[in-house]
Amino acid sequence: MVTDIDPTGIDNVVQAIMAAGGDAAGIRQDVASRSDAVAAVDFAVQTYGGLHYAVNNAGVGGQMEALGETNLDAWERTVAIDLNGVAYGMHAQLPVIEQYGGGAVVNIGSIHSTVATTFGHSAYTAAKHGLMGLTRQVWTTPSAGSGSTRWARRTSTPRCCAACPRRSSRA
Ligand SMILES: NC(=O)c1ccc[n+]([C@@H]2O[C@H](COP(=O)([O-])OP(=O)(O)OC[C@H]3O[C@@H](n4cnc5c(N)ncnc54)[C@H](O)[C@@H]3O)[C@@H](O)[C@H]2O)c1
Repeated sequence: MVTDIDPTGIDNVVQAIMAAGGDAAGIRQDVASRSDAVAAVDFAVQTYGGLHYAVNNAGVGGQMEALGETNLDAWERTVAIDLNGVAYGMHAQLPVIEQYGGGAVVNIGSIHSTVATTFGHSAYTAAKHGLMGLTRQVWTTPSAGSGSTRWARRTSTPRCCAACPRRSSRA
């Protein structure tokens, strides 16, 4: 299943998967929207009869400026997509993955999940560091419940990890 804020991008990816012999369906999603996160999971369950895997990939770079010069509206939009979007995504995905017997979630971080660089994009670096902390926290407390009940359920709860690529070399 493919989601994106850009319907044309969804269509292109779905068609490419179908042309390669696969099966795909798409739904528009703004990851900064809580209701869109729920709707995307509902769509997956209705279309495929369950949910086992999710990749929270959508991200924007934000402004490449020092914090003191950063427009705070731009800051909030970057954090809304790069951090809150991952939280809203997992909040909707994890209980449903567990309901259908387990699976995994991969969150796409960045080299900026672990370091700050002279590029100076404060919101992006803060959000990607937050993504890493959130991923670690979900891995550490993988399901609802408490104490021994929580850990006893761990084998059926979603695994969660982050991939943190460096800048791509595309032109
Ligand atoms: N390209 C790199 O060098 C690089 C390096 C490190 C990390 N990353 C991370 O990899 C991920 C993908 O990056 P990319 O380079 O493919 O970027 P990209 O701009 O090519 O793709 C990002 C996609 O996210 C979509 N998107 C933007 N805002 C959205 C929203 N609010 N809701 C839903 N979809 C939205 C865009 O339409 C686009 O299709 C991002 O999380 C990015 O931070 C990329």
